[in-house]
Amino acid sequence: MSSVKLLSPSLLSADFGHLANDITMLNNSECDWLHVDVMDGDFVPNISFGQPVLKHIKRFAAKPLDVHLMVTEPSRYVREFVDAGAAWVTVHAEACRHLDRTLRLVRECGVKSGVALNPATPVSAVENVVELCDLVLLMSVNPGFGGQKFIENTYKKIEQLCALRSSRGGEFLISVDGGVNDKNAANLYAAGCDVLVAGNAVFAAPNPTEMISRLKKM
Ligand code: DX5
Ligand code: ZN
Repeated sequence: MSSVKLLSPSLLSADFGHLANDITMLNNSECDWLHVDVMDGDFVPNISFGQPVLKHIKRFAAKPLDVHLMVTEPSRYVREFVDAGAAWVTVHAEACRHLDRTLRLVRECGVKSGVALNPATPVSAVENVVELCDLVLLMSVNPGFGGQKFIENTYKKIEQLCALRSSRGGEFLISVDGGVNDKNAANLYAAGCDVLVAGNAVFAAPNPTEMISRLKKM
């Protein structure tokens, strides 16, 4: 299974006290996008940051901002995150009362649409919105925190998602988020994953730029 092999480091593991420095490091690295994890303390048991911080990330970032909304009923905030600089807006299927409507709203705002699925959510949750997705993000940890252990069942879901995409002529990218590191990245790309998100593996590495190059060469 061939994939496009993009890398989107997650700013959740960056140094929030020196965010501009970490963004500059990413600008000068081989990564493709910057992954921005927004958490509301309701859909997930943690709070990160919102659109005011995204606006400042946008001031420094030279690469597309891949915004992952871990918030209840994200349709309330889609426009604000687009105005703040998102290039991709990914919403959780579990958090949307009307997933079809929310994905249409994301596209109407002029950006790429993504659907994220929690580890316990079946791939079939995107079956009826294939045409509305530019990206499907499989959570390989339960969302809420960086630095958790990768859930191996994700490989089965990548396979199922690849099968769904080809049977339906879908054009969405397949992303995997959570517990990605230099031990599993090659296998994930080989399994058909197009975009890997990595937080802890990048920012806890002694040399994050070098780790990004290594992950990109997998
Ligand atoms: C988890 C977030 C992830 C997280 C990944 O809720 O969606 O993007 O930052 O972090 P690592 O790579 O540390 O598991
Ligand atoms: Zn994420």
